[in-house]
Amino acid sequence: MITLETVDFSTHSEQILSLRYRVFSLEQGVDPAIDIDGLDNDAIQILARVDEIPVGTGRMLSDGHIGRIAVLADFRKSGIGKEIMLRLINTARDRELERVFLGAQVSAVPFYQKIGFSPCGENYMEANILHTPMALYLTSSHND
Ligand SMILES: CC(C)(COP(=O)(O)OP(=O)(O)OC[C@H]1O[C@@H](n2cnc3c(N)ncnc32)[C@H](O)[C@@H]1OP(=O)(O)O)[C@@H](O)C(=O)NCCC(=O)NCCS
Repeated sequence: MITLETVDFSTHSEQILSLRYRVFSLEQGVDPAIDIDGLDNDAIQILARVDEIPVGTGRMLSDGHIGRIAVLADFRKSGIGKEIMLRLINTARDRELERVFLGAQVSAVPFYQKIGFSPCGENYMEANILHTPMALYLTSSHND
């Protein structure tokens, strides 16, 4: 069974950082030092589990910046990434944020587009991976 929980980084850092290490460093070759940016303690943190085993994570900063979306390879394409995103977006709505935004790895752009995000700027390189800036506006004035 899939469960999603909004967790404190202080009590769940081991599970969250382990997932990020496996996906971003072991799988994608990103330098692990880049992952630790000092922003985790103040972020909304989501942990997805299947039968109690951590399989996915994601975070959102107070300004609506979503990032660190990661699902273990064996558990992809079963809706977990989308559920993590929808939880973060709903939290942003509850906080009356105007928009959420992120830097999407180009390979993940279609995933974010399906959730409603649109490209909003020029591609750029980060951690040796090409990224596209994307945003989703939450206020009705932007959706008219
Ligand atoms: C990107 C990622 C988080 C997606 O997680 P996931 O659990 O596989 O995604 P979901 O199963 O919820 O997918 C939701 C929809 O997006 C589609 N989708 C997911 N990843 C996709 C991709 N890379 N390209 C195209 N479509 C994709 C799914 O097929 C599904 O479509 P559907 O609703 O029509 O069935 C996951 O592939 C991952 O962790 N990748 C490695 C890390 C990464 O790139 N993170 C993003 C950094 S910006």
